[in-house]
Amino acid sequence: MAYTCIETKTDDRVFIITLNRPKALNALNLQLMDELTDALKKGDKDPQIGAMIITGSEKAFAAGADIKEMADKSYMDAYKNDFITANWEQAAKCRKPVIAAVAGYALGGGCELAMMCDFIIAADNAKFGQPEISIGAIPGAGGTQRLTRFIGKSKAMEMCLTGRMMNADEAERCGLVSRIVPVADLMQDALETARKIAGFSAPSVMMCKEAVNRSYETSLAEGMLFERRTFHSVFATEDQKEGMAAFIEKRKPGFKNA
Ligand code: HXC
Repeated sequence: MAYTCIETKTDDRVFIITLNRPKALNALNLQLMDELTDALKKGDKDPQIGAMIITGSEKAFAAGADIKEMADKSYMDAYKNDFITANWEQAAKCRKPVIAAVAGYALGGGCELAMMCDFIIAADNAKFGQPEISIGAIPGAGGTQRLTRFIGKSKAMEMCLTGRMMNADEAERCGLVSRIVPVADLMQDALETARKIAGFSAPSVMMCKEAVNRSYETSLAEGMLFERRTFHSVFATEDQKEGMAAFIEKRKPGFKNA
């Protein structure tokens, strides 16, 4: 698939996807989402890739779903084509880690896309919001659900009902983002973080991600059981033997992703 709305590149074992519709502040139209879905699937399958980054421009990660494209939709269009989640959930479905590196606006579907990633590194100029209420809509790709889990009911309700934006400081304070970095350092920082993850044993990275995600889907007792069984299974990997031997022998581990 030739890409016109995103750019991709591989840096070491990191796959970087850059949203690229600058004139529309990276508004997420169907073409972009098809391309993003395709790229994420490729990165997830490629054994040379250990982690992925989704980013945008300095001005906008993404200013939301494309309002111009959806303005005239009918209920039947939306319902029959399962608009919009049919091709929107790929970032949340990847087995490998996906980092959102967010500068500028992450609004509506842009905020929702960032929240589908495993964690968000924010530039100091990032602005998050779910402004759909101000255009007679509501969030449609997880804003009411994921935002509430990230930041709690009171703040999520206020954000969704007023459509106000949150700056990077507030986003960090309430746990929406893992860290804030100066905007000029965003990509370097995200890349170093992704490289670090990609340098670990790929099976243990996937297992770890799966276990953390499980905590959102189940009770504590079930989650603990899932974690313990998954923990037991690391003892079946060569990388666990290598990782622990390397620690004991005071050397760097050479993981084989096996
Ligand atoms: C289509 C958009 C867009 C969007 C911006 N643009 N956001 N086009 N869909 N979501 C376009 C503008 O029309 C304009 O095009 C160009 O990008 C620059 O935008 P401006 O508004 O001129 O820039 P600025 O004054 O800097 O304001 C930035 C902004 C504002 C605050 C981010 O653009 C804005 O409020 N955008 C909409 C945000 C929003 O409501 N998002 C939620 C969408 S609904 P022209 O051609 O005029 O230059 C949604 C639902 C998700 O996401 C549900 C399921 C996925």
